Amino acid sequence: MQPDKRTQTILDGFDSHFEGKATHLAIAPGRVNLIGEHTDYNDGFVLPVALDRDVRVLFRARDDNRVRLYALEFDSWADFELGVTERNARQLWPNYVQGVGLELAGLGIQLRGFEGIVSGNVPRGSGLSSSAALEIAAAKAFLTAANQIHALTGPQLAKAAQKAENEFVGVNCGIMDQFISTLGEEGNALLIDCRSLSYRRVPFPEGVSLVIGNTKASRSLAGSAYNERRAQCEDGVRRLNAVLPGINALRDVSLEELEFHRALLSHTVYRRCRHVVSENARVQSTVAALEQGDFGEVGRLMNASHESLRDDYEVSSEALDKMVESMRSHPGCLGARLTGAGFGGCAVALVQAGAEKSVREAVQESYAKAMNLWPEIYISPPSSGARVLPL
Ligand code: GLA
Repeated sequence: MQPDKRTQTILDGFDSHFEGKATHLAIAPGRVNLIGEHTDYNDGFVLPVALDRDVRVLFRARDDNRVRLYALEFDSWADFELGVTERNARQLWPNYVQGVGLELAGLGIQLRGFEGIVSGNVPRGSGLSSSAALEIAAAKAFLTAANQIHALTGPQLAKAAQKAENEFVGVNCGIMDQFISTLGEEGNALLIDCRSLSYRRVPFPEGVSLVIGNTKASRSLAGSAYNERRAQCEDGVRRLNAVLPGINALRDVSLEELEFHRALLSHTVYRRCRHVVSENARVQSTVAALEQGDFGEVGRLMNASHESLRDDYEVSSEALDKMVESMRSHPGCLGARLTGAGFGGCAVALVQAGAEKSVREAVQESYAKAMNLWPEIYISPPSSGARVLPL
């Protein structure tokens, strides 16, 4: 088979940095979330799709315990021994790989070293889960090199990668990104129950497409504010639990119960909870509307999600609001919302099939004018989850 252009560049990278040949190519995609934002760490529901942008690791096993990887875009090396628990203080990216290795070993999987090239085209720091893609591609490489590719189920693999990010890298993310990067399917969104980790395919209908707008605005607040939102949700659960002893997470609370007991919560915590509870309901309604082909309703739900994230959860930003506004002002746009953690990064629009390019052009112009920032617009079909190709 003739390698595509990107794979060829990676093969050339291998030739320049190693003797001999690689044996496998691990590929793991980034993601965009259709709806269900800030629900994953509340045991709720999400509806992401895998993108046609990914992180690739071209590699071969080594006979020892050393991992040596060269990242094309960073022009830098990761070089560590399995089992070493000291973080790389100079560069962030090797920590994702090292953390995943430690997690897999912690599950009792006998690992082996490997070496090769890392390369990605998921925009970094843009809310499209380039980190999860790196983790999952690395996890696949670790398991393949160790001859253990079937040692974990997809959800177990996603969980191990999430744990690596939480505990080794130190980012307190939920499970959504690793899960969809592992298990995404071409032509489908996945409805994921982030409590049970059960999931089902939701076919992405013909007649509509996704357009993603990268605001290119910095997300400096993202880490601390993300953790603060998580703490506020936990505070809400603790207080509601006094009168609703059966609840373990906001997933278990209905809008009626929340309204009835709102006096127990500070105004801010009440609004945070209202976002999560209403967003979970919107995910279910979106799935029903997609299955009925009611795209107008899907668009309205996406719009309502954005309003809730902006007003109740307060994770939007001027750039995201402008991006969403630019998208919505095109007649081919059915709905638009911020996607991912927020504070910057990307928005996603549902548009009528055929309108993708004109939406892109219109948004480029109107967003650039409004923000004095040149956005990037991506058009991606729902794509496959992670895989390993033998060479
Ligand atoms: C980030 C996290 C996810 C999820 C989203 C918000 O992408 O990594 O786990 O919490 O934010 O929905």
